[in-house]
Amino acid sequence: MTSSPASRMASRITLRQLQIFEAVARLGSFTAAARELHVTQPTVSMQISKLCEQLELTLLEQVGREVRLTADGRKVYEVACDIIARTGMLGELATSLKGEVQGDLRIASVTTATYFLPRLLGAFIKRYPRVEPFLSVTNRTQVIERLRNGSDDLIIMGRAPQELDVVAHAFLDNDLVVAVASTHPLAVRQGRIPLKALTEERFLMREPGSGTRLAVETLLAEHGLSVRPAMELGSTEAVKQAVLAGLGVSVLPRHAIERALTAGDVVVLDVEHFPLRRKWYAVHLKGRRLSLAAQQFLDYLCNDATSVLDAAASNTGGSAQD
Ligand code: PGA
Repeated sequence: MTSSPASRMASRITLRQLQIFEAVARLGSFTAAARELHVTQPTVSMQISKLCEQLELTLLEQVGREVRLTADGRKVYEVACDIIARTGMLGELATSLKGEVQGDLRIASVTTATYFLPRLLGAFIKRYPRVEPFLSVTNRTQVIERLRNGSDDLIIMGRAPQELDVVAHAFLDNDLVVAVASTHPLAVRQGRIPLKALTEERFLMREPGSGTRLAVETLLAEHGLSVRPAMELGSTEAVKQAVLAGLGVSVLPRHAIERALTAGDVVVLDVEHFPLRRKWYAVHLKGRRLSLAAQQFLDYLCNDATSVLDAAASNTGGSAQD
């Protein structure tokens, strides 16, 4: 390969310099970058100066207390991020060639999925003990924000957002049912209950931003109906406990109440248009390059989630998801 002035210049740049530059640009601070990378602030300053000298460009400028990228810096930043990511790929390639799956696995999930996701994750980690899982649990609106920011490898949710360009892999059934405590007057009602009857009951609703709430409101709106919640609760578990306490009627994922159903504490009502047949999806932005660990987890969800949960259920003599 001939050595041009540009390649001679590039050959003096180190990966460490690019990592330091990336951290300073992302965090807007030499101090924060030094802290994150466990080096001293003078080391950060020195490496940035060297990088600027080698490229003969001014990459950063001080604006007030913040360090910002210059126009040249922005272009260099993009290439630096690409080089850092590709170097990471090299590491992953080496591990995959050796047949090892390892590294961080960042999952964000809506609260309702916590009835089965930790169990699935646990079985996965048993298979691949060198994978380090991080699970963030929040509601639909917030996971969509995380999806937009690309903070996680995969998002587990009940419906892919239509406003983003994503790939969604369905991996598990998710039926939503209408439930009341077995002591509730509706529990003994005979025959099919019209949808409208729900709007006349004390309805227990998830908080705004919840995917379950969105599904219920969408169904009602499709039939020209709406409901004024008697209570709003911030998680599926809270709604379930309120239903069990006889505080009203609600729509819950069947997998969240299997145990209470078996125990006879809760009754699923035969309401028009229910159960709402949905799926659980593993979602990521289109074009996102999944790490080996994330790809492996995705394949595992799509191929094994149902059987892993069924096996766990038969071992415990009930639902593995509840
Ligand atoms: P939620 O989402 O926990 O935010 O209600 C569940 C779903 O989308 O099915």
